[in-house]
Amino acid sequence: MDFSLLTALLLLSARLSWAQTVFTGDVIGGYPVITSLNIADAPSNAITRYWFLAAEAQGGIPYYLPVFLARGTNRSLESGRKLSLSASVHGDELNGIAALQRVFSQLNETVAGGEFNGTIIGLPTTNPNGNQHNQRNFYSSSSNGFLTNLNRVFPGKDPLEGAAMPDAYAYAIWNGLWGNTSNVDVAVDLHTPSTGETGPLWCYADFRLPYVQRLAELAQVDILKIDPGEPGSIETTWVDNSIPAITLEIGTPKRWQQDYIQRTEDFIFRLLTDLHMTPPSSNGDGTVPVVEVDLSNTYKATNSSSVYTTRTGWVETLVDVLDDVTEGQVLATVYNSWGDVIESLTSPVNGRVNQVKTDPAAEQGARVYVIAYNATTEGS
Ligand SMILES: *[C@@H]1O[C@H](CO)[C@@H](O)[C@H](O)[C@H]1NC(C)=O
Ligand SMILES: *[C@@H]1O[C@H](CO)[C@@H](O)[C@H](O)[C@H]1NC(C)=O
Ligand SMILES: *[C@@H]1O[C@H](CO)[C@@H](O)[C@H](O)[C@H]1NC(C)=O
Ligand SMILES: *[C@@H]1O[C@H](CO)[C@@H](O)[C@H](O)[C@H]1NC(C)=O
Ligand SMILES: *[C@@H]1O[C@H](CO)[C@@H](O)[C@H](O)[C@H]1NC(C)=O
Ligand SMILES: *[C@@H]1O[C@H](CO)[C@@H](O)[C@H](O)[C@H]1NC(C)=O
Repeated sequence: MDFSLLTALLLLSARLSWAQTVFTGDVIGGYPVITSLNIADAPSNAITRYWFLAAEAQGGIPYYLPVFLARGTNRSLESGRKLSLSASVHGDELNGIAALQRVFSQLNETVAGGEFNGTIIGLPTTNPNGNQHNQRNFYSSSSNGFLTNLNRVFPGKDPLEGAAMPDAYAYAIWNGLWGNTSNVDVAVDLHTPSTGETGPLWCYADFRLPYVQRLAELAQVDILKIDPGEPGSIETTWVDNSIPAITLEIGTPKRWQQDYIQRTEDFIFRLLTDLHMTPPSSNGDGTVPVVEVDLSNTYKATNSSSVYTTRTGWVETLVDVLDDVTEGQVLATVYNSWGDVIESLTSPVNGRVNQVKTDPAAEQGARVYVIAYNATTEGS
């Protein structure tokens, strides 16, 4: 057979395989391993667990992702909404894992009772490789080894076209699990800041796509950052493919913070109600219930400004997350190892503190603050 024809057939079979759930035949801890998911193949009125085989690492180590699939009634396969919830694409960002687990645990009776209208695909740990390495990035072993930020390489690249491991891994999730949008029509990607920084509950949202503003407002965040997104991120890949999505940032990395986890859960349940996925689908009088959002504590901002050290030293921060600051206000002091002040960091803008460095060890160029604000026409 002619090589290009063979390639074409392989490509075609890869494309067609999205149309059905592909089981490898392996079962791990009672849950089947799949390489492709079609939500129609899963049982209705049930929460099914799978392992998704995303890629194979050097040493014959497969990367398996745990997958929740909550499927509602048969009728809702066509008419109900299809939500994606993903967490911890950065391996040190853990609050979202607990939030997602609790959402599925609480949906248990509703789904089994035949009252669930739609589908949710949940990935509690989108990057187990990062969890294993106890850090943000994805390790791949080619050459001397690389660390890749997976949240910059979506929707990935086709392995049949020679994609490197991190790109092929993202591609497997995008096409195999999410069906290149066919399994999903609204999405939330759960994050926290990186190790060494902290923040409130906040989100990134690109208001240019319909429903994104509503999605972000339902989250009742402390800071709502309106922006055009980050190429290659899960959120922006959804939005580029016309699927409303936000990135939700939840508190502090490497922790399970009950208050923020609860607020995230509350948001997901407001979202499920807003999408008519959970009952009641109508009030007693037949009208559709409307979810009221409380934005009285939400600071909306279109811009953010970062404050960096220019010297290496030890940083003492003087203001906290959600404090309001003014241009020129001293925000932090940097000391050398003798305790002499070597730098004072000031706010470049009037705004609200969004992220704070919690790790006092500051290498030159380290980000100490992110301040959310609205740029005016005068430029600040
Ligand atoms: C949903 O549809 C499937 C496939 O047609 C069928 O096997 C199943 O019994 C149906 N479930 C319910 C609750 O009707
Ligand atoms: C299911 O959700 C769809 C989409 O939001 C909605 O049109 C439909 O009325 C809902 N059905 C029920 C029974 O709530
Ligand atoms: C709900 O979850 C509990 C605990 O995991 C389990 O024992 C129970 O069978 C589940 N109920 C349904 C209806 O699936
Ligand atoms: C997703 O599907 C679209 C439309 O068929 C196609 O153009 C695009 O290349 C696909 N994306 C990926 C990453 O396969
Ligand atoms: C910033 O701009 C947005 C969008 O115009 C607006 O909704 C918001 O209220 C503004 N925020 C502040 C703090 O002025
Ligand atoms: C502020 O944000 C807006 C909207 O994203 C952008 O167009 C503008 O360039 C930003 N201004 C500054 C000074 O960063």
